Amino acid sequence: MIPAAFDLLDADRRHVWHPYTQHGTADSPITISRAEGAYLYDDSGRGIFDAISSWWVTLHGHAQVEIATAIAEQARTLEQVMFAGFTHEPAVRLAEALAARAPAELTRVFFSDDGSTAVEVALKIALQYSRHRGEPRRLIVALENAYHGDTFGAMSVSARGLFTEPFAEHLFEVARLPDPVGHDVPAALESLIRSRGRDIAAVIVEPMLLGAGGMRVWSADALRAVREITRRHGIVLIADEVLTGFGRTGPLFACEHAGISPDLMCLSKGITGGFVPFAATLATDTLFDAFRSTDRKRTLFHGHSYTANPIACAAALASLALLDERSAERRRAIERSHTDAAVGLSALPRVENVRVLGTMLAMELVATDRGYLSAIGPALRSFALERGVLLRPLGDTVYLLPPYCSTTADLQRAYDVIAEFAEAR
Ligand SMILES: Cc1ncc(COP(=O)(O)O)c(C=O)c1O
Repeated sequence: MIPAAFDLLDADRRHVWHPYTQHGTADSPITISRAEGAYLYDDSGRGIFDAISSWWVTLHGHAQVEIATAIAEQARTLEQVMFAGFTHEPAVRLAEALAARAPAELTRVFFSDDGSTAVEVALKIALQYSRHRGEPRRLIVALENAYHGDTFGAMSVSARGLFTEPFAEHLFEVARLPDPVGHDVPAALESLIRSRGRDIAAVIVEPMLLGAGGMRVWSADALRAVREITRRHGIVLIADEVLTGFGRTGPLFACEHAGISPDLMCLSKGITGGFVPFAATLATDTLFDAFRSTDRKRTLFHGHSYTANPIACAAALASLALLDERSAERRRAIERSHTDAAVGLSALPRVENVRVLGTMLAMELVATDRGYLSAIGPALRSFALERGVLLRPLGDTVYLLPPYCSTTADLQRAYDVIAEFAEAR
């Protein structure tokens, strides 16, 4: 008997719940059957330039052979072992490699699964650390317009709004600093410390770039000042580099723009080059040592089934090896291309506030309805897809965050699509 043809979209419609998708209004999803370099290919073989690195994860390019090979080899050797009471070479080598490349004071690595869990781990370390110091502090300070993930702790420190509103009463209290774009965050932090200083366990920031909050670029000087103030007051500084890590903003980590070393750093997304879910929370010796004790109650009681999964570690090691001088030159080339394009884009009538930070280019499109639910976002997304470019605007904010293998021609195609859309409106 010949099996019935598999109607993938029909089965998807009947069984799958997609992320950030209103199934009552969404178009049918596009079936992607393979990917290579900067391109996704749909089931008809049509190439789509992945100008946003598939939610900011694809670092070097899709299906990069070195990472694929490392994964296959590791899967045949040791695919998984629990990480309490056991260790393995890929995890130890990766921890060593991350510590060697991260800002100087970050020497310890706690592995988890995604950006949100990397943030949860950081928050728990910071809160428990204050207890170990004998002065329990309960307050976390976060930025307005921040985005740190979708789990409860991560939602609590993220900006309150559309995404978090249904859960508002279950989120813990956070003190807010103003959006760093256009506001004096160091002054606001000093003022907050004057009133509630002894209660503050940690300040969490997305260094240099508020990502999902609208690709908002803030200053290295302000970041440096926040580091200086938190250090002076014995407050833990958490740098959430889930988006900015691994070269997205130019240097390997965004903290390098300000020459700072935070107490905790969250990494995920590009950590495996975009191949498998994985994350790490890096910590200083000071934090780690505050948990090291003969008292078992001082343990960090946190872990995940797949903590330090060997396949993910092998992928991350292979990805790190690709972050060499050639990769740095590719990132510089993307930044030069963005900077040149910014001139033309800025001159367009309905384009505002064009900005570039490393491989990130962003701008606002003037729309009658602003914010995340602005109709202009889905309109541009469809317009670009029809022209073979994947964009996913954050409301009226359009951005590019391409894989590092993207060519000038690929990038030009994306700039042209945005310009054509802006001019047609
Ligand atoms: C800065 C930042 N932190 C945390 C997260 C959450 O990461 P994940 O979606 O992997 O849970 C994101 C995701 O976009 C992010 O941009």
